[in-house]
Amino acid sequence: MLVPIQTLFEAHLHVSNLPRALAFYAELLGLPVAASFPERGVAFLWAGGPGKSMLGLWDIGTPPQRLELHLAFSVALEDLLKCVETLQQSGIQPLDFNGEPTDGPVVLAWMPAAAVYFRDPDNNLLEFITMLHDPPRPDLGVVPWKEWPHMSRPNDRVHTGTAMDSEMDLGRRKQSVNAPQIRLLGISGSLRAASTNTALLRAAALVAPPSIEVAVWEKLGSLPHFNPELEGDLPAEVREFRQHVASSSGIIFSTPEYAHGLPGVLKNALDWLVGGSEFIGKPVMLLNASARGTFAQESLIEIVKTMSGRVVHKASRIVPLLGKSANAASLASDPTFAETIRDGLTIFSNAIAAMADHEQGPDEG
Ligand SMILES: Cc1cc2nc3c(=O)[nH]c(=O)nc-3n(C[C@H](O)[C@H](O)[C@H](O)COP(=O)(O)O)c2cc1C
Repeated sequence: MLVPIQTLFEAHLHVSNLPRALAFYAELLGLPVAASFPERGVAFLWAGGPGKSMLGLWDIGTPPQRLELHLAFSVALEDLLKCVETLQQSGIQPLDFNGEPTDGPVVLAWMPAAAVYFRDPDNNLLEFITMLHDPPRPDLGVVPWKEWPHMSRPNDRVHTGTAMDSEMDLGRRKQSVNAPQIRLLGISGSLRAASTNTALLRAAALVAPPSIEVAVWEKLGSLPHFNPELEGDLPAEVREFRQHVASSSGIIFSTPEYAHGLPGVLKNALDWLVGGSEFIGKPVMLLNASARGTFAQESLIEIVKTMSGRVVHKASRIVPLLGKSANAASLASDPTFAETIRDGLTIFSNAIAAMADHEQGPDEG
């Protein structure tokens, strides 16, 4: 056996209209967008969870393309680091990202993942790939493996990529590659099917970094009217809602303003949380699809504070979408949008981690 293959990691398809394909694969089939590169006419979507396996969509309308369609097999890091030599010993030329002969793996820094390319006897392009545990660095593009340790943040590295990795490190790496470390609950204050606020949250779920999962809770309208008399025997919908809040590390609200206040459905949902302990101390990020709705935002901040939630202002973002498309996939494929939201989510998750370490007081700014 040349290299022990763990699983098929990537598949790629040619598409004739990338936004339409994204609407199909991301919106309809529910695959989260891992990254999109409009200038290259390519988008990557996770399948089976961030870092687990990937689908590449290549727009045939925007040649030249840097990389042809290919298959990628995931392999253990230690095998990837050895595979250049083993490929060479078997008479197979290892290739870099540009298809040039190479003597070492490359790192696709946006993922980040280490990879070595090669060809089968029919000239099909193949790849061995290993997801890395380091923070993504989309700004770096593709870099040689030997330069990566100096470029990724040294303090955040969990493994060194050498044969000296301990079993524990490897186990930790596997666990973290396959599972997001932070789960956030997105709650939209709008029940409209074409809601810009709901689209904003869905798009946030699509562009979230692999370590962050955003689950958008879309059952606000199913909650009964709040009635304190029901606190002793909570309706099933309320129990389910409280469970979602309890199992999330933080809440992201995105709400319209109605008549200078919060929509009734959102206030109703918040009232159902007052009698429980699920929301106490909960970190909160505010998204806002309209720059106008300042009364609703201020009201929401006041309510969250009163309920002992912690608004992380520096993570909150206004993304004006009034009169714009409420299509989450097309929003997610806009690099400026994706960067704005990813930045907010990263700040939010760092703040959550800091709060967990008791390094921060409530309602930091
Ligand atoms: C009944 C109603 C009242 C509204 N009141 C306000 C308001 O006071 N201030 C404001 O900026 N927008 C107001 N709007 C506009 C909505 O906030 C705006 O259309 C929002 O983007 C809708 O969000 P959605 O797309 O997520 O449903 C109101 C809309 C409705 C339907």
